[in-house]
Amino acid sequence: MSVAGSHSGQPLIVTIDGPAGTGKSTVGRELARRLGLEFLDTGAMYRGATALVLDRGIDPENDHAVAAAVAAAKLRFDWTADPPTLICHEKPLTDRLRQTDVADLISALAAQAQLRAVMVELQRAIGRAHPRLVTEGRDQGSVVFPDAQVKIYLHASPRVRAERRAGQFESAGQVVDVNEIEQELIRRDERDANRAVGPLVRPDGAIDVDTSELTFDESLDVLESIVRDQAPHGALEGAANRHG
Ligand code: DC
Repeated sequence: MSVAGSHSGQPLIVTIDGPAGTGKSTVGRELARRLGLEFLDTGAMYRGATALVLDRGIDPENDHAVAAAVAAAKLRFDWTADPPTLICHEKPLTDRLRQTDVADLISALAAQAQLRAVMVELQRAIGRAHPRLVTEGRDQGSVVFPDAQVKIYLHASPRVRAERRAGQFESAGQVVDVNEIEQELIRRDERDANRAVGPLVRPDGAIDVDTSELTFDESLDVLESIVRDQAPHGALEGAANRHG
């Protein structure tokens, strides 16, 4: 993504953390576009790590083997694509990231301290190479970028999140039970919030945004105003204008 305008080029890291189904990636990606920043989807990195473990037959309960395999995989993004494509062992991973076997295993792997340590280092290296970044996940403002200039905690009620997810499935022609999705989201929130390492928390200094009653465009406007308001003086000078 090109960086719009004549800003000073000073670092600007915007973290967006929160539970699944709040629209973090869709809103975050569009926010980055509006502000002329790059976008990092750290959930994709955890999904890529999970796909790697499955596809290479690594024992998912062997924390050390999992972390070593991911460290050796040279996970990186192709930043020339929009959105950037995740590359693993020099091959792009796209549809594989959303497959059900990956979704089923990911929570167990995302709780492993050794894997998280590898991810934190990779994400900080990305932040150094791409210092004008919107980054989204569960631990971006709390662990990975505690000094981020702007931190946002995005959430919504489990019911609303389940309804949004059900809508996505339905528009893809699948029949789903919204109650079941809601229960699964609640279970996932609990697992993400209760793990010992990198748990989902509202980071210190984060601004809380509840999107339960907001449309996508309204959420985007709220986030854009927060970033414009909180970013250090000059960091967004000349960056794409509102809706630009
Ligand atoms: O945001 P997502 O649904 O793509 O995330 C997939 C999984 O990865 C989810 O179970 C939480 C985990 N994750 C994490 O533990 N830490 C992150 N920074 C990002 C995602």
